[in-house]
Amino acid sequence: MLRRNIGKSKVSNKKQNAQQPALPKSLWKFYFKYAVPGSWGALICYAVAFLAARSGSVLFPYCERWFIAIFEQPVPAGVNFVQFALPTILLIVGVNLFLSISAVLRGMFHARWSPQISNRSSVILNDYVHSQSMSFWTGRMAGQVNSQINYITNGFHAVQDFWRIFASLAFMTVSVGLIFQINMYVAIIFAIVFVLRAAYSWALIKPMSKASKDASSISSKLSGKIVDSISNFSVVKLFAGASREREHLEPVRNQHIAARVWSFFVQRLFWGVPLVVWDICYGATLLFCVYLYMNGQITVSEIVFTVSIYFSTMNTISSIVDSIPDMTERISSASKAYAELVVPIAVQDAPDAATLNVTCGEIEFRNVSFKYKRKWVLQNFNLKIKCGERVGLVGASGAGKTTLVNLLMRFYEPNKGQILIDGQDIKTITQDSLRENIAFIPQDPTMFNRTLRENIAYGKPGASDKEIRAAAKRAAADEFIMGTDKKYDSMVGDRGIKLSGGQRQRVAIARAFLKNAPILVLDEATSALDSETEVAIQKSFDELANGRTTIAIAHRLSTLRNMNKIVVMKDGHIIEQGSHNSLIKKRGEYARLWKMQSGGFLQE
Ligand SMILES: Nc1ncnc2c1ncn2[C@@H]1O[C@H](COP(=O)(O)OP(=O)(O)O)[C@@H](O)[C@H]1O
Ligand SMILES: [Mg+2]
Repeated sequence: MLRRNIGKSKVSNKKQNAQQPALPKSLWKFYFKYAVPGSWGALICYAVAFLAARSGSVLFPYCERWFIAIFEQPVPAGVNFVQFALPTILLIVGVNLFLSISAVLRGMFHARWSPQISNRSSVILNDYVHSQSMSFWTGRMAGQVNSQINYITNGFHAVQDFWRIFASLAFMTVSVGLIFQINMYVAIIFAIVFVLRAAYSWALIKPMSKASKDASSISSKLSGKIVDSISNFSVVKLFAGASREREHLEPVRNQHIAARVWSFFVQRLFWGVPLVVWDICYGATLLFCVYLYMNGQITVSEIVFTVSIYFSTMNTISSIVDSIPDMTERISSASKAYAELVVPIAVQDAPDAATLNVTCGEIEFRNVSFKYKRKWVLQNFNLKIKCGERVGLVGASGAGKTTLVNLLMRFYEPNKGQILIDGQDIKTITQDSLRENIAFIPQDPTMFNRTLRENIAYGKPGASDKEIRAAAKRAAADEFIMGTDKKYDSMVGDRGIKLSGGQRQRVAIARAFLKNAPILVLDEATSALDSETEVAIQKSFDELANGRTTIAIAHRLSTLRNMNKIVVMKDGHIIEQGSHNSLIKKRGEYARLWKMQSGGFLQE
């Protein structure tokens, strides 16, 4: 028989997960502290190549100017025209090569940093949400959390837009300066248009950012609701609820459409109006150039340069204007998602938390009071469970049984009182070490959509096939597993949907066998089993509980026959406790429940 030495409990001190560091409050601090390090080189090279490629907005007009100037200048005697033109043409080719190579390098450096930085953000945020406490999850939908992570991950790409805007503004200033050298009045026309443009954009940035924030928030909400609806497909089928689902989603969908339409509208307004103004100013500039030429104040090559600068500046401005909505949308979606996601972790390890050292597995609830929100679920609850003792928890639904084990697992923290394991307050030890010492089998265990082998092995990373099979045999799971197509390599489906409730529980029990923790907690773990299977694995349970401190919550009292002590709870209080026989003799609540159930399948 399986005998294990509890004294040497198997908490692996070596791989103690250091507690997830508290993430900074500011999104940009998060990016620069956690996502960027390791990619600084690529990011800086990208920024330089970007600037070089952008210089085209000034260098291209120069190339045109130089080329036209060839025809304006007198060719020195004795030099043929091709020879005269060649140096200028070579210069122009050189400039173009420089710009093209810069553009290629910019793309290559981008390819280097972009996926890496996204991936780092994603890894950190995934770790972070896994380090969040239970209360974080009860208030959220998985789909929503996923889309928030995506928003934050994508948010960093706003630096590209930022850099594009910075570079464009810089070269635009240079352009105005160059035009100024040719003619002051043309430069003034340019400058006025830029300033108006900037003022207009500035005025619209706030409403635009609000509109896109609203749109992305409602979009996360919609995506959460859709995932919720899709993942409950079986309920929808069962109740022929497809049209009800559609109706349920409709209000959010309508809000989503309205928010998107408004956001697009504001964006179009943002770049549409200035285009019209530009067209008029273009006409004015051309007219002005003709006037200057008539008065001999401007040459043809200068006119070509001016018009070319005008166009490249117009493109630059368009690219800025296109970037601003993208940038504000990215940043505002990311910062909103970040604020919603990165909230203080309710249950944290103490800074000097030690690892739990289980010597024999004594558990004590000492004056524990707890409420989820307003209503007290437990008040001054006291219970002592001796080393290796098996305690059954019984009580009507809502009595607080699950809450009690949630507190023991430290999914929540008691408002008052202490919970001690072998004299160590669980508040003072690391959560990882606590949970490594407790095998917990919930009522409705969920599975990863991975193979049966991987799901069982989750109880003990690196377990050998032999160990996995032995654990499955003890949990009476081997037989059904060998009956599946690919045996231990069969996939279990999304959250284990390809398995029956009883099969899922047997996999969870196998996992617990493999985990081999000194404390065992079963929360209605056999409720989904049929009577026959239950009898079959009752033995496995007894074996699993052997030598371990065990807390078993059960509706079916038959499963608690072998408990040393039965605790009867009502409204968060203990109303009776004792052995099965003594409680029957007492003719109290337990005896009443027993009488109600003893017509069942169990034989005394
Ligand atoms: N996450 C939660 N948030 C708020 N109230 C909860 C939560 N979980 C349980 N409760 C409430 O706490 C009480 C005890 O629940 P629970 O411990 O699950 O009872 P039991 O397991 O004995 O059926 C119930 O009134 C229940 O509605
Ligand atoms: Mg419960």
